[in-house]
Amino acid sequence: MATWRPTLLLFLFLANGCFQQDKAGTSQILTSDPQTSYLPVRSCRISNGHGSNYMVVLASAQAESEYLSGSGPLPKGSVIVAVESDQADCSDLTGYTLMYKEAPGYNPTAGDWHWQRLDDQRDVLQDGRVQGCISCHTQCNRNDFTCSPP
Ligand code: HEC
Repeated sequence: MATWRPTLLLFLFLANGCFQQDKAGTSQILTSDPQTSYLPVRSCRISNGHGSNYMVVLASAQAESEYLSGSGPLPKGSVIVAVESDQADCSDLTGYTLMYKEAPGYNPTAGDWHWQRLDDQRDVLQDGRVQGCISCHTQCNRNDFTCSPP
């Protein structure tokens, strides 16, 4: 135990994030308001998985068709963003959750997704291979760890 633990820690350190993100700070994945650059793939609806929030789901251009069709792994660089709200018409923004498709090898057992939870200013609250996100998305997994029927 004591002998392999430093090696494991070094490995985790080296393997940590192809996408460099210092947790405290604005998301380096979501660098601007996604409403202006991403495509809507699911309209405002109550969320079954994210507490009692409502959400709109947006996708980056390369992610749109696979997300909508549910036809296999999304391409590297795909971003899927849930824009979260307390209001049933999604009129007030409470924050974001997102999945960013890293290069193969980032986290092969969980689809190589990089997970983030952001506040309403896009500051990072949770980042990386977030176990809480992964364990639930593994169960609701409709296609490549995404859960929504569009
Ligand atoms: C308890 C289960 C659960 C947990 C924990 C969870 N999710 Fe989800 N997530 C869902 C479900 C179910 C949906 C589909 C929409 C809904 O909520 O009905 C979803 C939708 C999403 C979507 C929209 C894309 C899609 O169709 O899956 C994103 C992005 C997302 N979650 C990111 C995250 C992130 C990031 C975390 C961790 C910070 C997280 N989720 C934690 C269950 C969960």
